[in-house]
Amino acid sequence: MIEEHEYGYFTEADSADVVIARNKNAKDERLKAVMAVLVRKLHEAVKEIEPTQEEWFRAILYLTETGQICNEWRQEFILLSDVLGVSMLVDAINNRKPSGASESTVLGPFHVAGAPELPMGADICLDQKGEPMFVHGHILDTKGNPIAGAKIDVWQANDEGFYDVQQKGLQPDFNLRGVFRTGEDGRYWFRGVKPKFYPIPDDGPVGKLLGALGRHPYRPAHLHYIISAEGFETLTTHIFDPDDRYIDSDAVFGVKKSLLAEFVPVNDEAAAAKVGLSAPFYDVAFDFVLSRADKS
Ligand code: BEZ
Ligand code: FE
Repeated sequence: MIEEHEYGYFTEADSADVVIARNKNAKDERLKAVMAVLVRKLHEAVKEIEPTQEEWFRAILYLTETGQICNEWRQEFILLSDVLGVSMLVDAINNRKPSGASESTVLGPFHVAGAPELPMGADICLDQKGEPMFVHGHILDTKGNPIAGAKIDVWQANDEGFYDVQQKGLQPDFNLRGVFRTGEDGRYWFRGVKPKFYPIPDDGPVGKLLGALGRHPYRPAHLHYIISAEGFETLTTHIFDPDDRYIDSDAVFGVKKSLLAEFVPVNDEAAAAKVGLSAPFYDVAFDFVLSRADKS
């Protein structure tokens, strides 16, 4: 006798339910739940779009090319997630902060672990190229108290919009990178160069997609930070130049109002000498507020 089918055969109308039912013995409950949502939404999208066979095959080829360009240094799927706003959405979901704490944004692919720990005030620009910049502020808790012993890992693109790892041999290793540690007063300060906007890697499928969508690949000028301290949530964030031409159209949606800094031009030799620079230079003041690991 033919056994009665619990969920029936595949039909256009029941497509998602049939697939979801087939996954009922999944070994991991989380995987089962995630796949149920993904299958339901994917089938919904396909039903709304009604792709031709050719269009579906083009989509398959697109994902194939996205995988094929990946290597140890290039992660095209992360870029895809970035330009679709998914990276920022996952970041937002996982970094809901108490009021007053600094907001997070994407890590990006150019962080290098093991940058040198430098004395406070050091110049992270090792090739003296670009317009000098003095960056300073405090690392605070949500009550406004200074955090001593906070580790500040900072990295930035140069005045042409390139990170050191993109210009090996042209820029010194660890150019525009450094790790600083706050003292009792929670203050930090260092010297760098005014960063410039730059394109995310756009010579692959993600760049092609952006072009087809009439979008540019640029990120507005920014400095990256990872700030950590014992007893506090680690903060991965940037500060941005609000006057950058791409400030309202970041290719990866990383800009937040609270992360806009001011890059104040200073043309005063005495002020420059005080911070170990010569005029003119940019002064950038920015405080970061960390939330406690217990979320207070
Ligand atoms: C970055 O800011 O370094 C970055 C972020 C996302 C994609 C590409 C670059
Ligand atoms: Fe960046």
